[in-house]
Amino acid sequence: MRVFGRNDTMRKPANCVLVIFGASGDLTHRKLMPALYNLYRRELMPDQFAVVGTGRTKLSDDDFRANMARAVNAHSDADCALVDRFLESVFYQPVDTKAPDDFHSLKERLTSIDETWNTEGNYLYYLSTPPSLFTNIVENLGSCGLQVEDDATGWSRLIVEKPFGTDLASARTLNRDLQRVFKESQIYRIDHYLGKETVQNLLVFRFGNGIFEPLWNRNYIDRIEVTAAESIGVGSRGGYYDQAGALRDMVQNHLLQVVGMIAMEPPSSFEADAVRNETLKVFDSIRPLDADEVAAHVVRGQYTAAKVAGEQLPGYRDEEKVSAESKTETYAAVKLHIDNWRWGGVPFYIRSGKRLPTRVTEAVIHFKQAPHHLFGQPSERCVEDNQLVLRIQPDEGILVKFNMKLPGSGFQTQAVNMDFHYSDLSNVYVPEAYERLLLDCMLGDATLYARGDAVEACWEFVQPILDAWKSNPTIKVFGYPGGTWGPREAAALYNRPGDDWRYPCKNLTDDGEYCEL
Ligand SMILES: NC(=O)c1ccc[n+]([C@@H]2O[C@H](COP(=O)([O-])OP(=O)(O)OC[C@H]3O[C@@H](n4cnc5c(N)ncnc54)[C@H](OP(=O)(O)O)[C@@H]3O)[C@@H](O)[C@H]2O)c1
Repeated sequence: MRVFGRNDTMRKPANCVLVIFGASGDLTHRKLMPALYNLYRRELMPDQFAVVGTGRTKLSDDDFRANMARAVNAHSDADCALVDRFLESVFYQPVDTKAPDDFHSLKERLTSIDETWNTEGNYLYYLSTPPSLFTNIVENLGSCGLQVEDDATGWSRLIVEKPFGTDLASARTLNRDLQRVFKESQIYRIDHYLGKETVQNLLVFRFGNGIFEPLWNRNYIDRIEVTAAESIGVGSRGGYYDQAGALRDMVQNHLLQVVGMIAMEPPSSFEADAVRNETLKVFDSIRPLDADEVAAHVVRGQYTAAKVAGEQLPGYRDEEKVSAESKTETYAAVKLHIDNWRWGGVPFYIRSGKRLPTRVTEAVIHFKQAPHHLFGQPSERCVEDNQLVLRIQPDEGILVKFNMKLPGSGFQTQAVNMDFHYSDLSNVYVPEAYERLLLDCMLGDATLYARGDAVEACWEFVQPILDAWKSNPTIKVFGYPGGTWGPREAAALYNRPGDDWRYPCKNLTDDGEYCEL
């Protein structure tokens, strides 16, 4: 089993300096620095490297190292001596992104570090600040010539965190702003879902096996479901979330990227642009929704107060920093069609929600029933659909459901499972998404990063939904009790009797209110 996909021997990147904007923030503490340390531990960092954190806060190198030591110890399996050695290559430079002079000081510091550490003029800039600062940072990098790359000076790459725009217009503007300074080939838009092993494994599963691809089309597949469920509510992120909602936060990026991987045609090679050309074609083929179709194709909901496992949990509107009249959706379910030769007539159902009964992300491929029902009437559904469940998180793996005869007289059938769990592979380290993605960027491989045109294509599908919600007050927001699988109305997206979402577990409560908000 090739757990690391195409590259399990993994090359070491060329020497470089990584510059993190927003290094005192939550993402750097929880994800970026632990991921860099893990790459170091696995001997996958360049032979010569330096990490330079920046932010407005005035910190010395030693203060920053002490903070990063705490972060690495808290969020990875750290070895103290190794952490100390790793931190010898970590530095801090105060930069207020709104102060152009700070970028000149940054350039001087980077030049000095480059000379001392022999990093060959290669720079990776990571934008982990509030998105409102992205344009500003990039313009300042450009003014100092820090974006230049050529054979003489070395390479220069830019990783951009999500969210990439808040609507179609802002995503287009951000693309243009970045592309005024950096070439598209230098820009790496992160979608950490694409860094997950099981999402990458979708490509190996589809294109590395002979048995599944012949079935992977409208002739054999009835419908496809993609679910990203979270059991937690918005917690302390209410201020951000109330401006975003589930459609922007999850559907526009992560879930559509997964749809792209499931639905794409085989690429001609595994080069970044060959793969990304194919996912772009999928996004371009998604049938747009007219304003008057939105209510029938999209269900939005918001969790209400409920008692779950003996604990009284607040409704969304009672969460910290959330407006008491908020109409922001904490749940969105969308039915979409991909109008192309492979997928004509196959509906895709995608949903994401907060405060659902469990945390799970999975794609379910429902195969068509056998053409002739030998074992009962088709209307009775005594033979279940064959299903292929691709579990993305947690408990990553692949499950095939098929029917067996129950022992004894007659032909009673029962659905059984063939179940593969990544955790069954012994002695295999499954890297965190950020490890894989940071390594890929240092190696110059953009396959698992979103390209600018694809991001815009996803927004083009989502924008009419946002517009309809804004302009049409008759489109309802359905309340659902926390701990349930969301609004009951979501089941109505399936307009064929007997079809419904797959529910990986039961509702956790009978308490709380289903209502219209
Ligand atoms: N946290 C997550 O789990 C997560 C997940 C997905 C995406 N993201 C994205 O990642 C980015 C960072 O998120 P975060 O949660 O780490 O944010 P955060 O905790 O609020 O940190 C923001 C960082 O930006 C710096 N900053 C703010 N204004 C600045 C300015 N004018 N000049 C220079 N630095 C400035 C802050 O440092 P100073 O205060 O020292 O200036 C701080 O280091 C955001 O784009 C977010 O959407 C985060």
